[in-house]
Amino acid sequence: MNNWKRICVLTEIPQLGSRVVKSTEHGDIAIFRTATDEVFALHDQCPHKQGPLSQGIVHGKQVTCPLHSWKIELESGNAVAPDIGCTKPFTVKLEGGDVFLALT
Ligand code: FES
Repeated sequence: MNNWKRICVLTEIPQLGSRVVKSTEHGDIAIFRTATDEVFALHDQCPHKQGPLSQGIVHGKQVTCPLHSWKIELESGNAVAPDIGCTKPFTVKLEGGDVFLALT
């Protein structure tokens, strides 16, 4: 069962940017906001060389890593081909303008 944790209001996350949530159990989690106000959450580590995805730029439903420009799918955490790798995704939801993160 999901243990929902309220993180912030949506507007506290910059559009096309992110906000980092520190978790002792899961490490840093980056919560991204797209241009259309969807939210996604990934472990804040690129599958290439652990670059901070939270400092990348969101485009569509992907984020480009700031270090070597791998593109990571926000929904799955998978690197976009030809690159191969995966970052752990987390479940988030928007409710009444607030962002909630599921920590199981
Ligand atoms: S660390 Fe992300 S592309 Fe290299």
